[in-house]
Amino acid sequence: MILDFGSQYTQLIARRVRDMGVFSEIQPFNFDPNIIHDKNIKGIILSGSPHSVYDSDAPIIDEELLKYGMPVLGICYGLQLIVHLKKGKIAGADHKEYGLAILRHESSSALLKDVPKSSKVWMSHGDKALKLPYGFEPIARTDNSPLAAFENVSDRIYGLQFHPEVVHSDYGERILHNFVFNICSCTGDWSPASFIEESIAQIRQQVGNDHVLCALSGGVDSSVVAVLLHQALGHQLHCIFIDTGLLRLEEARQVEKVFTENFDIKLTSINGSDTFYSKLQGVNDPEVKRKRIGNAFIYMFEREAKKMGHFKYLAQGTLYPDVIESVSFKGPSATIKSHHNVGGLPETFGFELIEPLRELFKDEVRKVGRALGIPDSIIDRHPFPGPGLAVRILGEVTQERVEKLQKADAIYIEELHKASIYDEIWQAFTVLLPVQTVGVMGDKRTYENVVALRAVTSIDGMTADWYHMSADILTKISNRIINEVRGINRVVYDISSKPPSTIEWE
Ligand code: XMP
Repeated sequence: MILDFGSQYTQLIARRVRDMGVFSEIQPFNFDPNIIHDKNIKGIILSGSPHSVYDSDAPIIDEELLKYGMPVLGICYGLQLIVHLKKGKIAGADHKEYGLAILRHESSSALLKDVPKSSKVWMSHGDKALKLPYGFEPIARTDNSPLAAFENVSDRIYGLQFHPEVVHSDYGERILHNFVFNICSCTGDWSPASFIEESIAQIRQQVGNDHVLCALSGGVDSSVVAVLLHQALGHQLHCIFIDTGLLRLEEARQVEKVFTENFDIKLTSINGSDTFYSKLQGVNDPEVKRKRIGNAFIYMFEREAKKMGHFKYLAQGTLYPDVIESVSFKGPSATIKSHHNVGGLPETFGFELIEPLRELFKDEVRKVGRALGIPDSIIDRHPFPGPGLAVRILGEVTQERVEKLQKADAIYIEELHKASIYDEIWQAFTVLLPVQTVGVMGDKRTYENVVALRAVTSIDGMTADWYHMSADILTKISNRIINEVRGINRVVYDISSKPPSTIEWE
């Protein structure tokens, strides 16, 4: 169990643990203690936090947590909290420490097994431990943090001032592995195949002879939900696919083909482009676009579902990050964009929800999808936002602009595949900038639109770096887009990371 105190890295901790074949769950810091026994928890990791333990609104837990008798690992704020609860001393660091530091140790601690005497770790903290509580021993230090790691072997409590969960900590994975296997004695037998087997049994038991409705978007999540439910229920599953007119080139046709031909899934496909375009007429504001698209989607879905008869259940591709975001920490993370997932429908429909992926991260969903036989063209496709191309056309969305962008986007993605770099990139797409710039083509002046190319590397979309694409590939893409898409006379490459930018432009 990972207790969330609001760190931007909490989900990463859970992922790292799961990557080791050990199921892990994030709970809010003010969790219900009964789950400790109900869920057969083997160990607890306390996440970081943007707070100081001395803040008036700091997320503080009861010292009882340290008395359950199971291993506890505090990371960053988690470490500070342990020190605070056990009556050690925490102080604001003279120098806030962000970035790489060298961790040094000579300890034989089980937590640092196979970690070299000196290695790079990632720091991100203001406060630090000044004096350890009684019974605690320091096991590693950095130049700025003499108490960068500690242990209390008899109480099985450990602390790390740095972040082992981020890739920049060279031996971070080793340290988490040591905690999970050597200290918590986990076994590591959790896998996609075991997940599928358990889910199918659970779905059959829950649904019985009833019928389930599923909104298929063609994205990875809803595709995996549909195929999983189809395996469990056969023709008791009915899918609705709404073509919003804001999808990638030919995407709607591909979705229809794959799900009816490869899987024999009952699919009702609706072309809603005209409705969506008319709802977007004259709309410039990105949030208004999202809301209008969301509402139009719900309206159409409801209308079609009514025509199709009575369904007790509605299946949704809710993933673990959505669950955590909505129930976990109500604190520091501000809403940057409303991520209205077009597949996300309000519960007021009166359906009971089936959300078989609500405990999985995206990469785990992909593994499950592969194990279910879904083609790579769907599984490996970059993520696509619910509002689709509407948030990639700055300003008003019109059919003409959508078509322009679809063409540019198809060329871009095709060239990334040809250069064999598509899979290195987490998400790539084009953005239509409806500003006009001057160009010259065949001795004639042109005054046309700009397309921006975006390509980022990321693990989960929460942070991202721009992909350092070779100039040769960029040249080829730019030439092709300008030559082949009418109305585009300039291509630019976006070199911003997230933060401070976001991945999408709107
Ligand atoms: P940002 O732009 O916030 O995007 O850095 C992070 C990830 O979320 C996707 N995204 C959305 N997905 N509805 C969605 O379903 C939305 O409104 C939305 N906005 C952004 C984006 O494509 C990226 O993968």
